[in-house]
Amino acid sequence: MTTAATSVSYRLPQVRSLVTPLPGPESVRLAERRRAAVAAGVGSSVPVYAMDADGGVIVDVDGNSLIDLGSGIAVTSVGASDPRVAEAVAAQAAHFTHTCFMVTPYEGYVTVAERLNALTPGDHAKRTVLFNSGAEAVENAVKVARLATGRDAVVAFDHAYHGRTNLTMALTAKTMPYKKDFGPFAPEVYRMPMSYPYRDAAAGLEADGAAAARRAIDQIEKQIGGDAVAAVILEPIQGEGGFIVPAPGFLPALAAWAKDNGVVFIADEVQTGFARTGAWFACEDEGVVPDIVTLAKGIAGGMPLSAITGRADLLDAVHPGGLGGTYGGNPVACAAALAALDTMTELDLPARARAIGDRALPRLRALAAELDVIGDVRGRGAMLAIELVRPGTVEPDPELTKDIAARALAAGVVILTCGTYGNVIRLLPPLVIGDELLDDALTVLETAIREAAA
Ligand SMILES: Cc1ncc(COP(=O)(O)O)c(C=O)c1O
Repeated sequence: MTTAATSVSYRLPQVRSLVTPLPGPESVRLAERRRAAVAAGVGSSVPVYAMDADGGVIVDVDGNSLIDLGSGIAVTSVGASDPRVAEAVAAQAAHFTHTCFMVTPYEGYVTVAERLNALTPGDHAKRTVLFNSGAEAVENAVKVARLATGRDAVVAFDHAYHGRTNLTMALTAKTMPYKKDFGPFAPEVYRMPMSYPYRDAAAGLEADGAAAARRAIDQIEKQIGGDAVAAVILEPIQGEGGFIVPAPGFLPALAAWAKDNGVVFIADEVQTGFARTGAWFACEDEGVVPDIVTLAKGIAGGMPLSAITGRADLLDAVHPGGLGGTYGGNPVACAAALAALDTMTELDLPARARAIGDRALPRLRALAAELDVIGDVRGRGAMLAIELVRPGTVEPDPELTKDIAARALAAGVVILTCGTYGNVIRLLPPLVIGDELLDDALTVLETAIREAAA
């Protein structure tokens, strides 16, 4: 891959190559062991066991080389074995893997906080706290907002996904598989209508961002009252809910309303953050400056790390000891984050994400013009989606969506699906994927869609 800044050299051949049908015999053997050892509640979208990964490929235990269009759900933007990350992890592990920042602190945590304070939107004074997962970051953003405002209510949106812990299940919209039978859920969570331009227009609603924001704000004021709301939490582009890009104006109007009402505006950038959408953070597209941003996934080159970064006055309002956790900001994960941030900067991965979008979107749009099973093509940068419907309608077609993903996999391309209705193909390639490999994967996807639709 070549970017404006430099070029990437790969350890593994960047090719799609199948030496067995998928899953191959070794993957089948591991699946049998897994059935006897791993709880059935943990799913895997692809029945193929990984052995190695680099750049845009995952090599499985049978020696098949698959093109990765999922990045482990938007995590391995710098690749799954970025040499800089691998070296930093090994070097840190050789000294200490853990002391607990709440016991004996260390420099890496402080440096990550400094970097995130500088990188996230807004030039106001900021503070950062580090955790392990996206859900944990969201939980803590809400804790801070409630303490700082002295209010209880939290506003989330239709199609939202914020995690699988109790509070984040409450914030997440979709019941199956995330919430079903796991209640009762945390109280004082209110769900508001999202801006979903494709479906808003199909439903005859005004689809522009200002109108969609008015609908949400009207409901917030009627159901809760602005002075009772601690926080509004929103993904700038919704992830699991279907890669829904709100209409322009929606985010700024909600952020402005939050400001006017003393409400903490939390941007959940767990999936959209760290160059994925062509900017460091998706909020930047409309110049929105959140009070708190939640971060994870792409932050540390695949190592488990998450963060909340936000207004110093909010984060410093919490009493000492009120925030933390045994592993939060683990030193190995911090070393990985600093290395991943260096790689993202050196390779100018925001620009690379834009280039991926510029390369893929015209092809996806051309296909949409040809096939009436494609209701919508959307996305920004390297966060792209195809919404599949029954021909001539807006009725979701989850079966077709599954069929397409299965056909792509059989041909050696890992593709993820998502969406409230399970009818969205989402593309999240590692940002270090080369053009040739990306083109090959898109050709496989186009063929899979054509064949499944036929
Ligand atoms: C927007 C968003 N928030 C929160 C989460 C939860 O992150 P984690 O799975 O690391 O807990 C996710 C995960 O997909 C996400 O996409």
